[in-house]
Formats: sequence, C-alpha cells, structure tokens
Amino acid sequence: MFLVFPDSAAIAAHLSTRLQDIIRQDPQATLGLATGGTMEPIYARFVQDVRTNGLDVSGISSFNLDEYVGLSATHEQSYAYYMRQHLFDQLPFDATRLHLPNGLATEQEQHCQQYSAAIAASGGVALQLLGVGTNGHIGFNEPGTPFDSHTHVVALSERTRIDNSRFFDSMDEVPASAITMGIADILSAREIALVVTGEHKARTMLNYQQGGITPELPFTALKQHANTHILLDEAAASLL
Ligand code: GLP
Repeated sequence: MFLVFPDSAAIAAHLSTRLQDIIRQDPQATLGLATGGTMEPIYARFVQDVRTNGLDVSGISSFNLDEYVGLSATHEQSYAYYMRQHLFDQLPFDATRLHLPNGLATEQEQHCQQYSAAIAASGGVALQLLGVGTNGHIGFNEPGTPFDSHTHVVALSERTRIDNSRFFDSMDEVPASAITMGIADILSAREIALVVTGEHKARTMLNYQQGGITPELPFTALKQHANTHILLDEAAASLL
C-alpha cells in the first residue's frame, strides 16, 4: 500500500506515532531498525516525542538491518555509531537489548547464524523500518539475493558503494562488504514500513510499481508481505 506525504517531516510524525503506539501496547516489543539519511528525521522526531510524552523505552529490544565489515563500532561511518548518535544515546534504552551485526566478527558465518536466531528468539519484530537503495536493495541485500536468505556477508555492488561514498572521505574508504539481515529475516516482521524520499528514488519506485516480484529488485519481495506500508514523499512518488 502506498501512502504519499507532503515531505519527510510528515512521514516522521506518522511513524513516530506508530512506534509509540507499539511501545505502549507492548513495552517489551522488538523493533527492526535501519540506517541511512532517510531514517534521520524519523529518529529525530521519535526522540523528541518520546521525551515530550515521557514514554518508557527501557524494555525495548532492537535489531539493526546491517553493518559494514571491517568498521569498529567507534568508527564514525559504522552503523553502530550512527545508531548511538541518532537514537540509542538520545533516550534511556537498555543497551544490552540493542543489537547490530558485528562488523569485526572473526567467525562471520557463526555470527550471522546467531544473529538470525536471536531475531527469531526475541519473539519476532513488531515493526521493521526499512529504506531502499537506488538499485532496490533492502538492508544490504543486493540485486540477485535469494528471498529465503538469512543474515549473511555480502559484497557491496559498485552502485551501492558509489551511493554511500558521500559519507566517506574517498571511494577507497568505502567498505567492500557488509553483514546484512537476509530477506527472509526482514519478511518475518509482523509489520514493515518502507520509507522512500527524494526525487533520486522516483525511478526506483516506478520500477517497483511496474515490475513483478524479482530478486533483481530485492525490495519487490515486500509485495509478498501482507502488512507492508510504503511511505513516500511527493518527490519519490512523482513518477507513479
Ligand atoms: C544503505 C543501507 C540501507 C539504506 C540505503 C539507503 O545502503 N544499507 O539500509 O536503506 O543505504 O540510504 P539512504 O536512506 O541514505 O538513501
């Protein structure tokens, strides 16, 4: 289902309300979290609203979608750093309940298996926040990733490395690989909110609307999920 909003601030207000409703209903809920520029206004609004409303977030668990391989949690471009900066350090969460893949794991395969198992053992994700890459990737599930995939190590596509290079000093510094939740892990969430903003994603959305369900556009897997909401700003919806 497409929901079109005037701008990213309106999407952030909508999702902040939805997140707070979930937490009020179940103060121990598990959330699936995402990074990227798209998520920044959402976390900012949520932090502001939780403070205003005095909501208790200390029982919340979370699993992030992905992390770069080779970056420590203190590296400024790691997703662990991003999450602390935009959300985890802003509210009184219980840090032991907040999970990201470990980009420095030495036993990567074992780490990936444990990550997917921990998501399942948490009782399942109540709401998964998702962004999308211009090539249709979700998390770091690049084109061609099987829909039955669980957490795995992935080589990043050239397109994704170029898109993400704006956060690094040079292209050479952009990691070549990442650990990502698989598409099956993402689809196991009870509710999914895909957020797409900006004119540069308009064609990506047109491809979604016109295409079928294909691993070549990983986010078309969401068409198989009955409780997915696609929240767009007017720029991202401009070709629909
Ligand atoms: C990265 C992340 C994705 C994210 C995408 C889009 O590749 N791994 O999870 O959805 O970027 O990011 P942005 O929101 O900055 O466009």
